[in-house]
Amino acid sequence: MSVAISLRHVTHAYRTETGPLPVLDDLSLDIPEGAFCAVVGPSGCGKSTLTKLIAGLMRPDAGEVLLGGERVTAPRATVGMAFQNPVLLEWRSILDNVLLPLEIVPNRLTRAQRQNRARDLLALVGLEGFEDKRPSELSGGMRQRASLCRAIVHRPQVLILDEPFGALDAFTREDLWLTMHDLRAQEAFTTLLITHDLRESVFLADEVVVLSDRPATAQYVLPVTTPGPTSRRRTLDDLYTEASVRMLADLRQQIEVAQGRGTPGASPPVDADGPADPHDPAPRAGSRVPPHARAAAAPETPA
Ligand SMILES: Nc1ncnc2c1ncn2[C@@H]1O[C@H](COP(=O)(O)OP(=O)(O)O)[C@@H](O)[C@H]1O
Ligand SMILES: [Mg+2]
Repeated sequence: MSVAISLRHVTHAYRTETGPLPVLDDLSLDIPEGAFCAVVGPSGCGKSTLTKLIAGLMRPDAGEVLLGGERVTAPRATVGMAFQNPVLLEWRSILDNVLLPLEIVPNRLTRAQRQNRARDLLALVGLEGFEDKRPSELSGGMRQRASLCRAIVHRPQVLILDEPFGALDAFTREDLWLTMHDLRAQEAFTTLLITHDLRESVFLADEVVVLSDRPATAQYVLPVTTPGPTSRRRTLDDLYTEASVRMLADLRQQIEVAQGRGTPGASPPVDADGPADPHDPAPRAGSRVPPHARAAAAPETPA
C-alpha cells in the first residue's frame, strides 16, 4: 500500500526573541494511504507545528514532508483540516459554510452537485434539517460536525485534525467519535489526528504515535489491535476490552516517559492505577523508538 503522508527526518525550530526554540527533532513517520494515525504527546511538544508542516503552512528547517510521494512546499487542495475551534462564518448558513472549500478549490461540479455533496455529508453526520441555520444556532458538537463536513467536502486525500473534539463535553465527544467512524467508512482519506485523549486515540486510530517532549521525535508507536471499521463498526464497549485497557495503560506509561516521569520498558499491569515513581526519572533516550524499529515497539498483541 502506498504511503500518503511521509515525514523524513523533520527538524524545526521557531525563531524567538530569546533565540531558536527547537520544536521537532529528526521526526520520521510514514502513514499509509487510508490509515488513521493519532498523535499524542506532552502539551507544547510540537503537535500543532507538525500539522502546519504537513499542511504546507510552514516549511521545516531540515528534512522533508511528502504527501503522496511529493514534497510539500505550499498548501494543497488535497488536504482538509479541522481544529478545536470550528471557526464557521456566522454570516453564512451551515450549508454555505460546508460549501466554502468547493468555492475555492477548482472542481467540475455543478452548483446542484456541490449542494448535493454538502447536503449528503450533513445528513451523514446527523445535521439534516440544520442546513439553513447559522452557526450560532447550533450546539458546540453540531458546529464541530459541520466543521468536519467542511474539511472533507472537496474529497481531500489527507485529513488533518488538530484536537477537534478537545473542547466538547465527554458525551458529545464520544458521539463525534462514532460519527468519525461513519465518515471514514464512507469516504476515502488518510487521517492524522492530534489529540490529548488516549481513549480517543485508541478508539479512532489504527496506530498511535507518542511524541517525546520538545523538541519532539517519535518516541513510541502503538499499533491498535481492536477491530477496525472494515470488520464492523466500533462501539464504545470496545474501549473496555482487555486489549484496549492494556493499550491505554501502555500509552499512559509512554506519556509519563515523554513528560520525564515513569520508566520505559514493560507495560504496567492493566489494573495499575497511578504513575510510576515520580522520583525515579528514566533516561529518555532508552525509550526512544526510531520509526524503522516499529515492529520492536509493538506491545505483545493479546489474543
Ligand atoms: N509561531 C511561533 N513562534 C514561536 N514559538 C511558537 C510558535 N508556535 C508555537 N510555538 C511554541 O512551540 C512549541 C510547540 O508548539 P505547538 O506545536 O503549538 O505545541 P502543541 O500543539 O504540541 O501543544 C510551544 O512551546 C509553543 O509555545
Ligand atoms: Mg496544539
